Amino acid sequence: NKDRIGLEDDMGETKKRASFSGKVGFVLAAASSAVGLGNIWRFPYLAAEYGGGTFLLIYLILAVTFGFSVMITEIAIGRKTGLSVVGAFKAIDKRFAFCGLLGTVIPVIITPYYSVIGGWVTKYIAVFVTGQGHAAAQDGYFSSYIAEPVQPILWFAVFIVLTAVVVALGVEKGIEKASVIMMPILLLLSLVIAIYSITRPGAGAGIIYYLKPDLHKMTGKTVLAALGQLFYSMSLAMGIMITYGSYMKKTDNLESSVRQIEFFDTLVAFLAGLMIIPAVYVFSGGDESAMGAGPGLMFITLPKVFDTMTGGHFIGAAFFILVFFAALTSSISLMETIVSILMDKFKWKRRGTTVLVTIYCIAVGIPSSLGFGIWSGVKPLGMDILTFFDFISNSVLMPIMAFVTCIFAGYIMKPAAICEEVEQEGVKFRFRKFYSVMIRFVAPIGIIGILVSSVAASLGVFSW
Ligand code: PFF
Repeated sequence: NKDRIGLEDDMGETKKRASFSGKVGFVLAAASSAVGLGNIWRFPYLAAEYGGGTFLLIYLILAVTFGFSVMITEIAIGRKTGLSVVGAFKAIDKRFAFCGLLGTVIPVIITPYYSVIGGWVTKYIAVFVTGQGHAAAQDGYFSSYIAEPVQPILWFAVFIVLTAVVVALGVEKGIEKASVIMMPILLLLSLVIAIYSITRPGAGAGIIYYLKPDLHKMTGKTVLAALGQLFYSMSLAMGIMITYGSYMKKTDNLESSVRQIEFFDTLVAFLAGLMIIPAVYVFSGGDESAMGAGPGLMFITLPKVFDTMTGGHFIGAAFFILVFFAALTSSISLMETIVSILMDKFKWKRRGTTVLVTIYCIAVGIPSSLGFGIWSGVKPLGMDILTFFDFISNSVLMPIMAFVTCIFAGYIMKPAAICEEVEQEGVKFRFRKFYSVMIRFVAPIGIIGILVSSVAASLGVFSW
């Protein structure tokens, strides 16, 4: 058993599987894994790049259909088997044991580069706390910072070591408690910044860009990007929610928990877009090419917003501290997954395993960081190294994992078994019919269609 959450003793001893104290505890713990850099850093730059309102609309539709179905499935598999991703698939059908491997590989790819971005956030805390907020608002500040060979790696190391310390000491519970306080503050602060941002002169065009869908801009690639983002943001398609589900009480309402996690996660992403995208318009003077800034968007635009705000440098510091916590709770859940799988498999001790995983993360994170500077000539598939890792996990492996999960639930376990798990203790599954059709037909066909058409388009076979 993995003593990931809700145990008195988190040090890796085998114990009876514990559970969350109740539904609120479950929803908050799952939300603290879900809400992270995906919402605040990744969502806005993808939305900006892929047509604003078009991306937003596709994302929302996918969230209430695909996202809902896959999250129900993962949590139900976890609760039913009481096992994490490696054991759960195997326990139900041996032929699907490879899903455990797939679910392991994805966090292994994500954790290093996620922590590189976590390092950027940590650096920006230092920038704002030491009163250099004005410098950070200047053009070129961010790009010249990430191009440096040494400093970004040091901040990345700070972030990954902090993550590792929490994982090694098994004090996630404390951190999760803290994030319960931080999360509402983050939401409130995001709201304040978003209101400030959308009331700037010239923000109107940006608000329209972000909210108004333009279906001409819809391509296979947009849909794939939205789908990958959805899984990433909700910590789906990598087994995390299976593990969380295995700690969920039978008496808790699974369906409404899923709806609450999704709502919270989407709200944070939506607000992040509202903070950043209209501001890009204001500061670029309506130049649409600024929308394609990619992974740097949050770090380039928000400092400009803070620089014009009364008390902005203080708000900037508070903002980056909160983002840091959101990122930390997510990176902890990523690293914990890898550590607990290795501990189970090889019967290793927690501390040693964490040290090993940290060394691995540093080794793979360094090239991701250097890819913005001295290794910028290395361009796998035409992308910088960090974006390449991001692409492989989010746009390739996660859709594959989600597809296999749908097939597994729809045809091996059968929707009735999942529905029965949702309907424990006389609770009714309100979207039972909808779920069954989604998981057997719409989701698997949709995911494969999106994946194939987008790969074909990038190979130049055809596009739409
Ligand atoms: N959902 C997190 C985010 O949006 O930042 C990223 C993530 C965390 C993915 C933990 C997977 C995971 F296990």
